[in-house]
Amino acid sequence: MAKKPWGGRFQGSTEAEVEAFTSSLDFDRRLYRQDIAGSQAHARMLAKQGIIAPEEAAAIVRGLDEIRGEIEAGEFDWDPALEDVHMAVEARLTAKIGEVGRKLHTARSRNDQVALDVRLFLVEEVEGLLADLTELRRAGARLARRHFGVLLPGYTHLQRAQPVLFSHHLLAYDEMWRRDQARLTESLARIRVSPLGAAALAGTTFPIDPKFTAEQVGFPEVFRNSLDAVSDRDFLLEFLAHSGIIMVHLSRMAEELILWSGSEFAFVELPDAYATGSSIMPQKKNPDVPELIRGKCGRVCGHLLGLLMTLKGLPLAYNRDLQEDKEPLFDTMDTVKGAVRLMAGLLSNLKIRPERMAQALSGGFLTATDMADYLAAKGVPFRTAHEQVGLTVRFAEEQKKELWELSLEEIRRFAPQAEADLFDWLKIENSVARRTSPGGTAAVRVAEALARVEKELGL
Ligand code: ARG
Repeated sequence: MAKKPWGGRFQGSTEAEVEAFTSSLDFDRRLYRQDIAGSQAHARMLAKQGIIAPEEAAAIVRGLDEIRGEIEAGEFDWDPALEDVHMAVEARLTAKIGEVGRKLHTARSRNDQVALDVRLFLVEEVEGLLADLTELRRAGARLARRHFGVLLPGYTHLQRAQPVLFSHHLLAYDEMWRRDQARLTESLARIRVSPLGAAALAGTTFPIDPKFTAEQVGFPEVFRNSLDAVSDRDFLLEFLAHSGIIMVHLSRMAEELILWSGSEFAFVELPDAYATGSSIMPQKKNPDVPELIRGKCGRVCGHLLGLLMTLKGLPLAYNRDLQEDKEPLFDTMDTVKGAVRLMAGLLSNLKIRPERMAQALSGGFLTATDMADYLAAKGVPFRTAHEQVGLTVRFAEEQKKELWELSLEEIRRFAPQAEADLFDWLKIENSVARRTSPGGTAAVRVAEALARVEKELGL
């Protein structure tokens, strides 16, 4: 069993079960690149401030570069006794370059070190996620462009309500994803704050230059309070919350795809590559990918709750509880990225069935609101018009007819102000075309909206 780097004041060795329980090496080794970059920045700062000699810093930086190479080549021995990535890398450094390696941790603690590592990791990954969201938005915008002009029922309460453009429906999701990107982008400012220099909790007696270290790792800002710097995980809570919202958005879309791909709707056909069969029912094509996107939403939102509970009631400053931040972070990142990418792939390969959407436009009196608007425009108070149309709809239903299949005389029984031009208002296409109000579903408005989105996405 390796001697612990902190073993000075200890006589006994660690119980094996304790070691297994407390070790984070299995998961935090994922932070090796960030850990090395942070240590190199720290070593350079120590040399610049005259705390260690320039040759010592150079040896440390070089040794760490080599260690990165060893890890990437799969040659690094991850000794479980070494507790975490920070100690594993440092122990290897000392084994390689000797006593000088033991100077690296001057004016630093694992408490500020790990906080920096996680921040560096998150910045990089959030940038990747932002790019994935852009691809998702592009896939959605391309689909909206490809099927521009296709109509389907818009729903409220999952009841057919009014006809809308399929592209309009898709662009509603684009608005959600655009906000998701805005939230993540805005959060970057709070992630890019270097905690290095807070040391264990109270700062250090050495004449350090935290601003310089921050610049070395590309962070524009430095912590303002050392106690906060080592115990703040707000930036992770924010990320988990933003991820939860992204997953909720994806889950809503997934739910629609699941409904729409079933034979009751049959509005879309999922690409074979994104569906699976049943082991017993040969006829089945199951929407497993959207189902799992929907399902994984629970897990990501659970991570947010989990970390909130981990942080609740923690006294200042660092507590080992904080080690519990990493697994939810990693799992959330992997899950959200996977879901975003798969949804993009699904949309890129989605077949839609406009004829089925068109069928769903009849039989539901989807232009009843248009008839009420027509009457209201003629001076009938809207409430009265609403009532007149309701009676007309009931009559049409009894006659098993569409509104436009009634005669003007029949309609006038309920709506005396109706004239022949009403029939123009009852047509599905006209219902959509008339909704030219800002953000509405008329083709002119949706064309503007789509062009704006395409411009934002460089399409
Ligand atoms: N593995 C620890 C974590 O993830 C690193 C910091 C440990 N610091 C300490 N004083 N035990 O939080």
